[in-house]
Amino acid sequence: MKKILFAASESVPFIKTGGLADVVGSLPKYFDKDKYDVRVMLPKYMCMKEEWKEKLQYYTHFYMDLNWRKQYVGVLIYEHEGITFYFIDNEYYFNGFAPYGDMYADIEKFAFFSKAVLSALPVIDFRPDIIHCHDWQTGLIPIYLDNFRFGTEYYRGIKTIMTIHNLKFQGTWDTKRVRDITGLPQYYFVPDKLEAYKDANYLKGGIVYADKVTTVSNSYAEEIKMPFYGEKLDGLMNAKANCLSGIVNGIDYKEYDPATDQHIEKNFDIDNFRKEKIKNKLALQRELNLTQDSHTMMIGIVSRLTDQKGFDLVAYVMDELCQDAVQIVVLGTGEEQYENMFRHFEWKYQGKVSANIYYSEPLSHRIYASCDAFLMPSLFEPCGLSQLMSLRYGTLPIVRETGGLKDTVEPYNEFEKTGTGFSFTNYNAHEMLATVRYAERIYYDRKRDWNKMVERAMAQDFSWGNSAKQYEALYESM
Ligand code: ADP
Ligand code: GLC
Repeated sequence: MKKILFAASESVPFIKTGGLADVVGSLPKYFDKDKYDVRVMLPKYMCMKEEWKEKLQYYTHFYMDLNWRKQYVGVLIYEHEGITFYFIDNEYYFNGFAPYGDMYADIEKFAFFSKAVLSALPVIDFRPDIIHCHDWQTGLIPIYLDNFRFGTEYYRGIKTIMTIHNLKFQGTWDTKRVRDITGLPQYYFVPDKLEAYKDANYLKGGIVYADKVTTVSNSYAEEIKMPFYGEKLDGLMNAKANCLSGIVNGIDYKEYDPATDQHIEKNFDIDNFRKEKIKNKLALQRELNLTQDSHTMMIGIVSRLTDQKGFDLVAYVMDELCQDAVQIVVLGTGEEQYENMFRHFEWKYQGKVSANIYYSEPLSHRIYASCDAFLMPSLFEPCGLSQLMSLRYGTLPIVRETGGLKDTVEPYNEFEKTGTGFSFTNYNAHEMLATVRYAERIYYDRKRDWNKMVERAMAQDFSWGNSAKQYEALYESM
């Protein structure tokens, strides 16, 4: 039995700001239970929902040095859907209103978390063969592990994987301060280890010291070797090419299932969507005060509202797009300029545009289920889960051909009658608009072809099965 420990800063159902949480919370359930004991370690945030916090059970506590600081480390435990979750407790670090806040504070918070993860292992009596680290928040784990090996036998032989969910966020701060926080020796603070461009860089350190590096799609694994996507680490990604691979994300097919989803008006499946899916559209139009019309093409957006997701393209052509016979439903939070942009267009095109600037899991399900198309024109996209959710609900993705979007959405070919969505190549607002309008034409003028495409989309398999096998193969190779 191989023991694997996931270390991450978020996971469903406990705490989520984006796709990372979906991956960390669902992937562990899909490993072969006879061969792998996969557990997860997370921070215990004060901002977690009460319903979850009250379920966690005290396991143990100890004190840990973080350079000159001495910090309390509580460990809580909870088993959810067959997976053991551990939570690292410290009220000083994890008391914010959101998992992340000021970078200055986060840098110390996740140094604490990373060291605490390793320090807790002997105490909880779970010595993993592999620690699977996710994103910059856990980048220091492979470094601390290297450092710990000098001290005690216990840590020798533990292997690490660093999975990059988003190369843009690296966790960088002034070297001197990071030295003071971490207590790590000067030895690590050089450009071929933890340092990048004069600053300490957690993700880079993790990548350098991990035994294997993965990212969440094949295309993104290739893209980040190039300057445009490499976030100034393309040189490193090239150097690490021999241990870097891409494994595409899946989604939880039980959680996102139009046939059983409790959040949506009317359940449907691949056989009856032609009749049943529009009932969801009508219900959503009612709920959001949009013009009631089952015929109108409805385009959905569920997203963090940031530059990464291509909203400057949307802003640029929104007026033009709103001249068409479409309705646009947005759910998201993020940069103020985009929040206000969508609020503005809701005001300007009443009955046509609905801007929901907040976070809501139930509404997100209703959007995936109710819309005809889903717009995701990302500037870059390591994998993307929203387009997978859309496919599952027969909502055809309109995407830019980048990263995981390119790997998971097959563009419609009207001659061969293949494809599961629509895509465009260049990061250009009018290229995007032309693609949306092409989709409108198919939707309005060739309904049979459209419905065939919905059928193909719903028949796709992006459950975790396949990808979990690839992670298993990776674990075996180590
Ligand atoms: P990223 O991780 O870059 O934000 P992904 O597509 O991988 O993008 O994952 C986004 C996840 O967050 C999806 O599960 C999506 O449904 C969810 N999500 C994003 N914004 C919201 C919101 N405002 N309300 C509910 N869910 C949201
Ligand atoms: C990141 C990426 C997104 C990916 C998610 C889960 O947030 O932006 O593309 O799907 O991580 O891996």
